[in-house]
Amino acid sequence: MFLIDRIKHQLHQDIVADPVLHARVLNLYLCGEAYPHAVNDYFPVAAVRDPDLAEAMRQHQADEDKHIALYAKAIQKLGEPVQQLPPEHIFNHVIRQHSAETWHVEPEMADDQRTRRVASFLAHAHILEKRVARSLEYHLEACNRAADPYPAKAVAAVLGDEQRHVSYTHDAVFHLLPRAEAAALLRSHERAEARANLDFSSNQLRRLLREETQHWPTARRGFYRACAAVMRGVLHCA
Ligand SMILES: [Fe+2]
Ligand SMILES: [Fe+2]
Repeated sequence: MFLIDRIKHQLHQDIVADPVLHARVLNLYLCGEAYPHAVNDYFPVAAVRDPDLAEAMRQHQADEDKHIALYAKAIQKLGEPVQQLPPEHIFNHVIRQHSAETWHVEPEMADDQRTRRVASFLAHAHILEKRVARSLEYHLEACNRAADPYPAKAVAAVLGDEQRHVSYTHDAVFHLLPRAEAAALLRSHERAEARANLDFSSNQLRRLLREETQHWPTARRGFYRACAAVMRGVLHCA
């Protein structure tokens, strides 16, 4: 784990050191924030009975929209445009491809089935938020050493919100379902994340090495290509 940790530190430092690479990676985070607007089964607030949970979900949704604006401003300050990316470059879409669970709520569903789907959405969101928060911790550390203070300010604000999202979504799953069922649901979403992480990270690393070759440090391009190949290999063996 220590080695993986060191590689991630170096990777985020290399990304932040180059404005084009930095903008491309901030764009990946931005597309994840915008994903709820591209689908019809995120934040199923209408199916939530508990008014406190419904309010927390509405606040969560508003936070994600605020994050879109923060990332867009950071990308603009780096002198780069915000890019629309196809679904296969958006982590939320990739994790959905690997997920055995669904969270789509249908109006004709019985109450307990609706509750189970709401819990499934919150479990999906919890696992996603946890991954994003982990990634942002590495990214923030690199941004703190950058010349322009704005990306660090934006990423720190996003990270604070994501940590809150990690916590309430976890509690809500256990509030909605019996303990064993909640734990099993979270484990299922965790398995999807583990596969999606290898799939998404290897693809994006390969793509950015190919599309933005000149922006990576010459000395580490080969090493990062090898890292992407190892992640692909692990995914196919898992
Ligand atoms: Fe966010
Ligand atoms: Fe979030």
